[in-house]
Amino acid sequence: MSNDEFPTDRPAVVTCGLPYANGDLHIGHLRGYIGADTFNRALGTLGQQSAYVCGSDMHGTPVAVNAEKEGIDPEEFALRWHEQYEETFPQFSVDFDNYGHTHDGTNTETTQEIVRTLEEEGHIYEKEIQVAYDPDADQYLPDRYVEGTCPYCGERARGDECDEGCQRHLEPGEVEDPHSSITGNVAEYRERAHKFFRVSEFEAFLTDFLDDLEGTSNARNQPRQWIEEGLQDWCITRDMDWGIDYPGEAADDLVLYVWVDAPIEYISSSKQYTDRVGKGEYDWEDVWRDDGEIVHVIGRDIIQHHTIFWPAMLEGAGYNTPRAVAATGFITINGKGLSTSRNRAIWAREYLAEGFHPDLLRYYLMTTGGLQQDVDFSWDAFQEKVNGELVGTVGNFLYRSLLFAYRNYEGTPEAEVSAEVEARIHDAIEEFRESVNDYSPRGVGGAMTRLAQFGNEYIQRNEPWKLTDEKSEAQRDSEKPSGDEPRGPEQAAQVIRDCVQIAKAVGVLLEPIAPGKAQALWEQLGEDGDVADARLEAALEAPPRNFEEPGELFEKIEDDRVAELETKLEAKIEAAAGDEETESDEADEAESDDMTDTDDLEPLLEDRISFDEFQELDIRVGRIERAEGIEGADELARLEVDIGLETRQVVAGIKQLHDLEELPGTKVVLLANMEPAELFGVESNGMVLAAGEQADLLTTHGDADPGEKVR
Ligand code: MF3
Ligand code: ZN
Repeated sequence: MSNDEFPTDRPAVVTCGLPYANGDLHIGHLRGYIGADTFNRALGTLGQQSAYVCGSDMHGTPVAVNAEKEGIDPEEFALRWHEQYEETFPQFSVDFDNYGHTHDGTNTETTQEIVRTLEEEGHIYEKEIQVAYDPDADQYLPDRYVEGTCPYCGERARGDECDEGCQRHLEPGEVEDPHSSITGNVAEYRERAHKFFRVSEFEAFLTDFLDDLEGTSNARNQPRQWIEEGLQDWCITRDMDWGIDYPGEAADDLVLYVWVDAPIEYISSSKQYTDRVGKGEYDWEDVWRDDGEIVHVIGRDIIQHHTIFWPAMLEGAGYNTPRAVAATGFITINGKGLSTSRNRAIWAREYLAEGFHPDLLRYYLMTTGGLQQDVDFSWDAFQEKVNGELVGTVGNFLYRSLLFAYRNYEGTPEAEVSAEVEARIHDAIEEFRESVNDYSPRGVGGAMTRLAQFGNEYIQRNEPWKLTDEKSEAQRDSEKPSGDEPRGPEQAAQVIRDCVQIAKAVGVLLEPIAPGKAQALWEQLGEDGDVADARLEAALEAPPRNFEEPGELFEKIEDDRVAELETKLEAKIEAAAGDEETESDEADEAESDDMTDTDDLEPLLEDRISFDEFQELDIRVGRIERAEGIEGADELARLEVDIGLETRQVVAGIKQLHDLEELPGTKVVLLANMEPAELFGVESNGMVLAAGEQADLLTTHGDADPGEKVR
């Protein structure tokens, strides 16, 4: 891998975290798959050779537990979901070059070979450990079969992950107060020999690896923290039947932990792609064994697996390591955590059944927040985005200019593109290129929307409808801005020629996010072939001379439609709440960790304070000027905050939760008359306000200046 700007001369692979084959896909999944798809398509637009691969995650307790509930064989259960995913992804234009699954022959072979290599290289050892056991169920309790309390943060956790709290991976035996999820029994412990991967030996490698790692900042910062705390070796076997057998005879009765064979599917799926298209077209070995560009898009709950265990495995087995890990935030629905068991979710199939074009959701998910941010979905906000940006800006520009071009010129007028418009398209291309290199789908969408916005202003400013020859000379003269050259049909042709070029450029830039709509635009322009094959340069190449009468690309969503959708959503959540009383708590891997379900919120304080008491708080708007970690303190950062009248030094517990380098310039809200305190030898003179577990920093909505009082 390299850190050279894309496009590079090495082939790339883009992957997305494998979906567990254990339930319906929802909008939270889609965000990741669409994000990676957009990135892969955008790389193609830049001219980067790249493949997008993925597959279903068939093994592990997430699948076994759910299959058991339905009383069917895990293989049959997982395959059924796998087939459904194969059907659903293309409906959202998520266009994998290969989509396999972890239980197929390729992955079994690749996994066993990698584990054997790790063994030969001395990276694996055996150790006796205490394994949770349920005497009534007469079985061991790996991972999701056991529930208890996280030893790190005290939240409720499952055997192998603290998914509602600190997100840490938990080793067997680590969870406190363990209970069987099958019977509710307190777990017993039995001694068993298991295999361990020496992750601790990779500390130096991982430290360097993280220094070069691209993607989102959370994917660098969190693992740095874990390394600081000290790396533990990783138990890679489980007492289960369902999974890939540990290779060799010594460990006949053990299968590999699901997190070993799952990421290896990234490699296996790439191999299958090469097998299909031939090495001349795409060679998986160039990517994985040599120095191709490996880009992983994942949810932020699985950062540790992709930035610690996975690169260590690759390095240990002599493979290439990832160039980038881009970790997305979660989706909330109407401000509350997405919850599949509470049916507070928008399901992929449900969205399509409403008759909306997939590209609308793609655009919404890609441009509503940055990749790292949590994104809220509401039908209201969806409507606003679609009507405002896609209909109002993009669709409006395309329709008015192409219709004008069709009516007056039967297509593209014969004129040269003006220098102004050419320069503006160049800028949009640059913005697109930079956004791809910043792993920012939002930037990719923004480059397109802003260009269309420019198109609208351009056509408005030049008023071509006043210049065509249907109008009399006299009328034109009276309308022409004084001092300008005489303007007439030639200028009209010029303006429309420019607009058609902008429309074509919009098509090229729109494709990664909205491939279906971009193709429709391409056809409106009379282009043959696929817009997906167009490179950035095409944005400046002339479209065909003639095209047909265009139609409107996007349709407005009406208010009563939104009201109806909101009501439906509320109703299904309520219905699920009714069911829940009768059903037992469901294991639910797909929920976001930082769910803000009301049950998880701190209760409101009973005691009220007077307005005078409130006035005793001197709360000010501030702007962060510097931010740096405090040495020796895992969580603390030293901030210098400009509060207008002076600059304050403040210590805040945000070191691992924010990318400190990105903070300067951020407006914050600061309690200025907090009594001074000293933390790790650093004086803290004020308190920066933040919300929730992730220390979401409070800021101002408008343009209040530093020093202004909050009242
Ligand atoms: N199935 C896992 C999950 O949903 C993700 C596996 S990603 C891989 O959390 F790296 F292991 F492939
Ligand atoms: Zn925890």
